[in-house]
Amino acid sequence: EKVILAYSGGLDTTAMIPWLKENFDYDVICCCVNCGQGNELDGLDERAKLSGAAKLYIEDVTDEFCDDVIVPCVQAGAVYEHKYLLGTSMARPVIAKRLVEIARKEGATTICHGATGKGNDQIRFELAIKALAPDLKVIAPWRMTDVWTMQSREDEIEFCKKHGIDLPFDMSHSYSRDRNLWHISHEGLELEDPSNAPNYDHMLVLGVTPEKAPDEGEYVTMTFEEGVPKTINGKEMKVSDIIRELNALGGKHGIGIVDIVENRVVGMKSRGVYETPGGTILMEAHDQLEELCLDRETMETKKKLGSQLAQVVYEGKWFTPLSEALQAFVKSTQRYVTGEVKFKLYKGNIIKAGTTSPYSLYNESLASFTTGDLYDHNDASGFITLFGLPLKVRAMKLMEVEKN
Ligand code: ARG
Ligand code: SIN
Repeated sequence: EKVILAYSGGLDTTAMIPWLKENFDYDVICCCVNCGQGNELDGLDERAKLSGAAKLYIEDVTDEFCDDVIVPCVQAGAVYEHKYLLGTSMARPVIAKRLVEIARKEGATTICHGATGKGNDQIRFELAIKALAPDLKVIAPWRMTDVWTMQSREDEIEFCKKHGIDLPFDMSHSYSRDRNLWHISHEGLELEDPSNAPNYDHMLVLGVTPEKAPDEGEYVTMTFEEGVPKTINGKEMKVSDIIRELNALGGKHGIGIVDIVENRVVGMKSRGVYETPGGTILMEAHDQLEELCLDRETMETKKKLGSQLAQVVYEGKWFTPLSEALQAFVKSTQRYVTGEVKFKLYKGNIIKAGTTSPYSLYNESLASFTTGDLYDHNDASGFITLFGLPLKVRAMKLMEVEKN
């Protein structure tokens, strides 16, 4: 029997290779799904084989991640609890989908993942697997406390050594991190006590704090077509490259560092710091354009449904009818979100520097103070009479009651 192991190359999932063989007699097929985590993939093949894996797949799904999930979420303005740009959450369905595809190709019966029993990731992986392949079994070692008896990194290193795996694993306790093209998350260490300030000097990977950013701001121009980013500073690029470029710019200027106590699906609050330099810029630039192109009511409805989509993504319900319906609504709002956005990056800020669109609903002569054909000041009198009618009726009633 074959098991597909969601493999990162870290200590946890490496120890899972001999553990799966020993306890279940599986052929272990490792699958590392790359959503743009940078150089974390070096030496992976050697590691997996040395640990007894039958095979290692390294699958690059970065473009799929961008086109199928990031772009719809940017268009939706999907942000969890007003702050979290969903970097980890958005990647999970894409990873799960690829794990299922490999499982089918290999004729495997089981998927194994290294998410803990206290977090959101276990939910996201498993809901996606259920939706795509209800027949597949799932093994989550961290929840099998009677079989997975290792309690610490030291235990895991000991276990690996016993199985002839002698790798240079880092003994030091670092942050618990998750990285992909969109973001890096940091949890643990001093963050576990919300009364502590984050140790940014020690923590940050993608950029610097605003204090350390250059004193000189930097202008950036972007264009969008139907809500999809197309160019940056005049160069046409695919979405993943736009995000890479924005990550470099945003990191340099201290953009997109968020410190949040969030509510996990499993009921507890948890403290995390997220670096989302490029994502923060992309969301803001898209917003800047929508201000011109969307009418008020569509915008208001989109805000509500966008925050519902954020909830859906956070809770791991990407492959559901609700998710599809919300995405369809958002997509239809993007038809005229086309134009050019300019802004300046300066010490953690994104400062507008001009927006244009062939579909802009902003009408300069309408917005200025003179009376014209489109807008007659006298029309406002009647409008206010009707618009204020219920307020006035109620106030009259209250006056009448108070007199008696
Ligand atoms: N709290 C964030 C979320 O639920 C980040 C989780 C980070 N995951 C990880 N395996 N380190 O999306
Ligand atoms: C984990 O538990 O594996 C990481 C944290 C989370 O999923 O929320």
